[in-house]
Amino acid sequence: MSEYDYIIIGSGIAGLYDALMAQELGSVLIITKGSIDECNTRYAQGGIAAAISSLDSPELHMQDTISAGAGLCDPEAVRILTEEAADRIADLVKFGVPFDTVNGEIALTKEAAHSIPRILHAGGDATGERIEVTLSNAARSSKRITILEYCLAIEILVLEGGVYGVTALDLHSGSLEKFGCRFVILATGGVGRLFKITTNPDVATGDGIALAYEAGAEITDMEFFQFHPTALRLPGVPLFLISEAVRGEGGILRNADGEQFMLNYTSEGDLAPRDVVARSIVSEMKRTGTDRVYLDVTHMQARIVSARFPQIYRFCLDHDLDITSSMIPVAPAAHYIMGGVRANYWGETNISGLFASGEVACTGVHGANRLASNSLLEVLVFGKRIVERSKRAANAAISAGEEAFSLKERDWDSSSPSVLSLTALQALLWENAGIMRSREGLQKAVNTLAAWEKELVIPTDRPSYELANMVLVGRFMTEAALMREESRGAHFRSDFPEPSDAWLRHIVYRKEP
Ligand code: FAD
Ligand code: SIN
Repeated sequence: MSEYDYIIIGSGIAGLYDALMAQELGSVLIITKGSIDECNTRYAQGGIAAAISSLDSPELHMQDTISAGAGLCDPEAVRILTEEAADRIADLVKFGVPFDTVNGEIALTKEAAHSIPRILHAGGDATGERIEVTLSNAARSSKRITILEYCLAIEILVLEGGVYGVTALDLHSGSLEKFGCRFVILATGGVGRLFKITTNPDVATGDGIALAYEAGAEITDMEFFQFHPTALRLPGVPLFLISEAVRGEGGILRNADGEQFMLNYTSEGDLAPRDVVARSIVSEMKRTGTDRVYLDVTHMQARIVSARFPQIYRFCLDHDLDITSSMIPVAPAAHYIMGGVRANYWGETNISGLFASGEVACTGVHGANRLASNSLLEVLVFGKRIVERSKRAANAAISAGEEAFSLKERDWDSSSPSVLSLTALQALLWENAGIMRSREGLQKAVNTLAAWEKELVIPTDRPSYELANMVLVGRFMTEAALMREESRGAHFRSDFPEPSDAWLRHIVYRKEP
């Protein structure tokens, strides 16, 4: 068994940044299931939030984050996030990430629910791509980092409460291999592929959450999933995000009749928190009997639009839509999981030596609803802390959450059980655990997933492993959403439309020993 100090699973911003930090302390193996740049990170458009302007402060950034989080943020985690932001941005600048500037100063834009402009961006709307390319080039040129592409992690090896390695499937040869290590950093990203309509690429199948659960780690806040209000909705055209920064720079939402409608739903208008805008769009589409609304930038100068949003401009133009003269058809899409593997302020889980970093982790900074552009920042702040903490010879596991649930056996009593497939799973989740939820729909999803879990065959290849992981992760999401009888942040129940103080708490899952 080859041995490393650190095994990092995933090669998005979390995997790469953590690897570049960890290489200072020891040998690093990155295992990634596709090519190095197949990840959510590459598609990030809006940018990274950080209070770096003289008009801003970590306190103000903290207030905005906590208010978006709808009562469930961990204030100490948010304090850490916002106070350490500027130093971590400086790390990215040192690595060579080319943030956009105006008059020699880093340019800042505004996104929903930020009280002032504080989003740094690169290449206009190509922030994620610039970060991914910069960090992956740095990782590739490091002698202390080994990168295994097309290698799927299928098990975290744990003995007596401590991690000692990873089993992975080589997707070229089909062979299984075990790797030994002192620390495993899970950096496997999100779960957006659970839904039929999503901004996430194919790799976002929740593998890390499933691996961590099977290894004994705690999983929390899985009912909180964010839907982005504005994904391109053009017939026959692949789904493509239209950044919130477009509204931040003056884009206006209009309905099918060309009317501005957001002020009919909230006094915060087009830049209300993401969950509010997504639900308002759904209501407006229902009211007007269409499947889309429009984002209008035709009043902005054409050269500003194409220079500030070159990717969006080019993508739409390639599909015969000139956004400088025509409105952009948009509708909400599944985007980001707030929950994940429960981690403390140092990214530690309840398994000694196992850390969770990035979208797979739940550090408590997002609460019930993530503030735009806080996720790339979370990766850097807590990634740095993970590597810092690993300097200790053996890090202790964090204590388990007081109350934890385990998934229950459930009966399937439908007369027409559907057959498990990726398409059926994505449709089930989109229809029953999407932007508007209810007991009836969630119960159907819970029962169906439990039945499908029994049907799963022993996985042998990437699709079958991913499907099994998605069934498990879907179960956490739907069971927690069914249990939480209130509406809070991104979790909206039409049968319980108000928040309830009784639910100012977190739902945690832990596998029964
Ligand atoms: P990822 O970048 O998704 O990387 C996960 C990695 O894990 C991938 O390399 C994947 O192949 C690998 N992996 C997964 N499972 C396995 C396995 N079993 N074995 C081996 N490898 C595995 N956030 C912001 O803050 N600002 C933005 O502007 C922004 N825009 C966004 C736009 C889009 C379209 C999307 C989809 C997201 C956006 N986000 C944004 C969210 C943000 O991009 C992600 O939260 C962040 O990039 C996650 O980084 P990560 O490294 O945790 O995961
Ligand atoms: C966007 O550019 O709208 C996405 C930003 C984010 O998800 O944080």
